Amino acid sequence: MNKRDILTIALPKGKVLRESLQLLKRAGMDADGVLHDERRLIFENMDEGLRFMIVRSQDVPTYVEHGASDLGIAGRDVILEQGKDLYEPLDLGIGRCRMVVAEPEELKKRDNPTHWTYIRVATKYPNITQRYFLQKGIEVEIIKLYGSIELAPILGLSERIVDIVETGETLRKNGLVVVEEIMDITSKLVCNRASLKTKPRRIKEFIERLARVLKPEKGQG
Ligand code: PRP
Repeated sequence: MNKRDILTIALPKGKVLRESLQLLKRAGMDADGVLHDERRLIFENMDEGLRFMIVRSQDVPTYVEHGASDLGIAGRDVILEQGKDLYEPLDLGIGRCRMVVAEPEELKKRDNPTHWTYIRVATKYPNITQRYFLQKGIEVEIIKLYGSIELAPILGLSERIVDIVETGETLRKNGLVVVEEIMDITSKLVCNRASLKTKPRRIKEFIERLARVLKPEKGQG
């Protein structure tokens, strides 16, 4: 295969990696080597002309926007938070979770979200949080954290948090409960806009192969 025709795909480390690899495999684009050596960050499937890069989930949009990667798999949370200029051809339906406002169980007993006018929130998602409360007319003070958000109410950093909930286990274990739902989240295929023009045939084929395994009924005939 011509070197210029190789497609590079940024895959997110962490929870969504396994689901991403399963999906790619079902589409005939095996990248399972990724699971055998956690320290290797680039894997090639030269039969298919594919090069996979393993990056932090928050870095996927950056690699793709700059064209270091033609394609990537990124959560709706990360995409909306960063607002980068990316083409989003497919919702992959993996990495399903919710973004919520949560607070201590005790506080919820006497709290009424319709009365909020000012709140302090700890979160990894300052932009989404700001937009969400702004459109509700609520003034919000945001404390930006990079992880373990559930600790903030326990340590008195903020009364409430905006974070991702998947099983609800982390909230439960830290005495927190959901008080508002902000949005449902899934992972999407994102694509560099220039690659659409320089590798149109390969990108189209990649998208179609994934789309077929997502919606088998539409791929037939
Ligand atoms: C996410 C999120 C919660 C947890 C929710 O964190 O920030 O802490 O997962 O999952 P659960 O509802 O199934 O318990 P992640 O594991 O991505 O780590 P981080 O806090 O370091 O970002």
